Amino acid sequence: MLTDKFGRHISYLRLAVTDRCNLRCQYCMPAHGIDIVDRAELLTYKEMYRIIRVLSELGVNKVRLTGGEPFVRKNFINFLESLSFNDKLKQVNITTNGASISKYIPKLEELRVNAINLSLDTLRSDRFKLITRRDVFDETFQTLEKLLLSSLTLKVNVVVQPGVNTDEISDFINLTKNKNLVVRFIEEMPFNGKGLRQTDEIWNYNKIYSEIEKEFKNIIPLKNKKSSTSKNFTIENYKGSFGIIPAFTRSICNDCNRIRITATGMFKNCLFDEGVFNLRDFIRKGANDDELKQLFINTVHNKPENGFIAEANRKNKNVSESMSTIGG
Ligand code: GTP
Ligand code: 5AD
Ligand code: SF4
Repeated sequence: MLTDKFGRHISYLRLAVTDRCNLRCQYCMPAHGIDIVDRAELLTYKEMYRIIRVLSELGVNKVRLTGGEPFVRKNFINFLESLSFNDKLKQVNITTNGASISKYIPKLEELRVNAINLSLDTLRSDRFKLITRRDVFDETFQTLEKLLLSSLTLKVNVVVQPGVNTDEISDFINLTKNKNLVVRFIEEMPFNGKGLRQTDEIWNYNKIYSEIEKEFKNIIPLKNKKSSTSKNFTIENYKGSFGIIPAFTRSICNDCNRIRITATGMFKNCLFDEGVFNLRDFIRKGANDDELKQLFINTVHNKPENGFIAEANRKNKNVSESMSTIGG
């Protein structure tokens, strides 16, 4: 099994299936995009399938597919289909920007996908265009509405961006009044290709919560699932709920259960580390399953205690890779 030296069990893999994206969100990449890698450098679906199989034999039972935008990789649906045959996986989830996926929803229901986390930072079409540098609000919102009618669990991820969308926090909470969804506000991190955005305001967990408290008097804390990234709440008599993710404050590391693999096969013990080894090269040199397992066991053992230590251990201290490369 995968356990680190702080006794944390690793059961959740976040796998980026591509570094490409159909949007250009300001908080994630520059306008011209990132330097995407050659296709040959990406893990193949066969390699990803094998990595997941081996990890699932070591106790990983939840996989989240991310990107870039996972649906822009060709044959992504076929890959999901292949994963549905791995019965060690309790959950296969996807984080998507939703801009091109509404037609796949019935298929996702058929396959073993449990939940969709939809990135949506504004409810205003003009603002959506400014944030994402693409004019596809209507399609994205249609995805949200279709997901609500589906059997899939829906969480909406809102990156709280000072000077951009902090005035919409209440609107997002109001969305949970009659809709069965979870809205989660995320602290903005410096993963945008340049480093932290210049801003006079810091919208961390406490600031987000106190802003909500000003507007809503009857906030009820919910019981948090162990290893959840968010602290969750609901407003009395509201159908849905909301959460805050202290992604940058990093107060969630104590019971972290996650590892990451980037689209090029870089294994990451922590969102804030530089990548520990390249799995793709190891596999392509002919590693067998036992060697792979041993590598995972040894590497996870050295997972840094928290995101601050992971950051301090980096050779390149500048935390600025695009989230599209890291996989979220
Ligand atoms: P659930 O499985 O539904 O709980 O989703 P999740 O929060 O694990 O994944 P999602 O892709 O929706 O990520 C939401 C935000 O949380 C993103 O900004 C992630 O980068 C951030 N996040 C996810 N895992 C970690 C983590 O281990 N550490 C930190 N600091 N942030 C994380
Ligand atoms: N800071 C915080 N969250 C981010 N995401 C992408 N870039 C950043 C950033 N710089 C979010 C996306 C997606 C999730 C995987 O990470 O909106 O919902
Ligand atoms: Fe886990 Fe690192 Fe995120 Fe902390 S910052 S929760 S250790 S991935």
